Amino acid sequence: MRSNLYRKEMIDAGGAPALVYVASEERPGQPRPSYLEGILAGAERLGIAAPYRDGITAWGRPVLPWLVEHVLSDYALDLNGIHGPAHWLRVRENGLALAAMTPDADAAVVELLALLHDCRRWDEGRDIGHGERAAKHARQLARDGLLRLDAAQLGLLIEACTGHEHRGTSADAERVLDLAVSSGSRGLC
Ligand SMILES: [Fe+2]
Repeated sequence: MRSNLYRKEMIDAGGAPALVYVASEERPGQPRPSYLEGILAGAERLGIAAPYRDGITAWGRPVLPWLVEHVLSDYALDLNGIHGPAHWLRVRENGLALAAMTPDADAAVVELLALLHDCRRWDEGRDIGHGERAAKHARQLARDGLLRLDAAQLGLLIEACTGHEHRGTSADAERVLDLAVSSGSRGLC
């Protein structure tokens, strides 16, 4: 283990001393591919309690609180506006429901699409090009190591972000849009 990646600290773990390794990198980011899986395999082999392993597993979710905070930090519009976070959550709910009944649908891409598809809006109207700007932002987040996606998933996310404002240009985005409309929610755009 390279010493500049971690520092060792002793902490009080419920009355017992415990040696912990604290990462020196404080910026949030996704674990390297297969890193988390290795940790989980080791935890299971060592008989670590299931709730603790569930906590580790949670770090593999596609959307974590720090990513939401990152996206919200430079959202240009009113957080209570019609295309703000409440809309993103409705899209997430509709999208995951649709994914559950769609063979080969990728729930991780759906969750990230819900979070990102409108994050680069400049106004609440038609705002031509906001899908392309969202796709560009998704590419940047991926370059910065903030998305837990492989190349195929990233391609799908970018296509869906770009296409979601143009009905019919992205099959996945259109399916999500149709469900949102048919369920009585506001549309995806
Ligand atoms: Fe949109």
